[in-house]
Amino acid sequence: MICLGIESTAHTFGIGIVSDWSEVLTNVKSTYVPPKGWGIDPSKAKQHHEDVAELLIEKALREAHIKKPDLISVAIGPGLPPCLLVGLKKAKELSKKWDVPLVGINHAIAHLEIGKLFSNFKDPVMLYVSGGNTQVIAFENGKYRVFGETEDMGIGNLFDSFGRLVNLEFPAGPKIEELAKKGKKYIELPYSIKGMDVSFAGVYTHLKSLIKKHKLEDVCFSLQETCFAMLVEVSERAMAHTQKKELILTGGVSANKRLQEMCSIMCEERGASFSAPPIELAGDNGAMIAWNGILAKKEATKNYDKIDINPKWRADDVKVSWI
Ligand code: ATP
Ligand code: FE2
Repeated sequence: MICLGIESTAHTFGIGIVSDWSEVLTNVKSTYVPPKGWGIDPSKAKQHHEDVAELLIEKALREAHIKKPDLISVAIGPGLPPCLLVGLKKAKELSKKWDVPLVGINHAIAHLEIGKLFSNFKDPVMLYVSGGNTQVIAFENGKYRVFGETEDMGIGNLFDSFGRLVNLEFPAGPKIEELAKKGKKYIELPYSIKGMDVSFAGVYTHLKSLIKKHKLEDVCFSLQETCFAMLVEVSERAMAHTQKKELILTGGVSANKRLQEMCSIMCEERGASFSAPPIELAGDNGAMIAWNGILAKKEATKNYDKIDINPKWRADDVKVSWI
């Protein structure tokens, strides 16, 4: 069985084609980048997705050497409604045209499942860190549960917002990582953990007062060290609580080598395994939606009208029919 997956929850429009023998046949995408100094405007991202959809679908089919898939999956949440609707509309059009079943996928769970596939882990804790999301998720008592999350902004949004303050190009994460390498002085920032939840709003407010007084390199260094220590601490708590021995780091921010290193050290100290999938599979992508489609094929239907977007769909509310 071959599944074509569509990702369009936020910045990225992606098409992945994956087989049920877990081969990624293709994984193509295009990401909307806002003009310098701006955040994401959902209507602009929607327009971008509409503009690239047809070409990406053709490209994916060509690269996978198939005429049509046996199944289509589409991320229906969580995400920005205008963006989600582009993906769902395309998914329905294609499903009808090819007369194949369609299944709606949860974006966060898709990150987790492709991470499991890549790492060969059976039952990991996932630290999911992207622009809009910061969550610690694991499987317990028949479903995926969110053990911890940000109470306000996602870690990537914090980096990007800080980047706008100091005129870094969007997305600011990679540039902050580079600058942090040259930082030497640690400047204390608010370290805010409640249970397994984290908060970054205080960090952001505090950063504003630091930028005039300190070297940018030192601020970036301190930003990373503080926020990543918070993320590693809540991941460790979730691993201790669930007694799990595997950690997957995923989402766009997982590209950060310092965060990878800190997670890896924590896991080593606990005798646990650690994996950070390559960025093509860790950032938003269509292959993860396609692979989750294969897993969730029992939920697929030709009753297309039954499928709608679910912009606030929480991982806890996903029916996990494949475990
Ligand atoms: P989601 O919809 O899941 O929130 P997204 O649209 O934010 O995803 P991703 O590609 O998952 O897209 O993540 C992008 C984020 O990752 C941006 O905020 C960017 O600054 C951040 N990022 C990318 N590379 C790095 C890095 N090396 N260090 C820190 N942050 C990074
Ligand atoms: Fe994501």
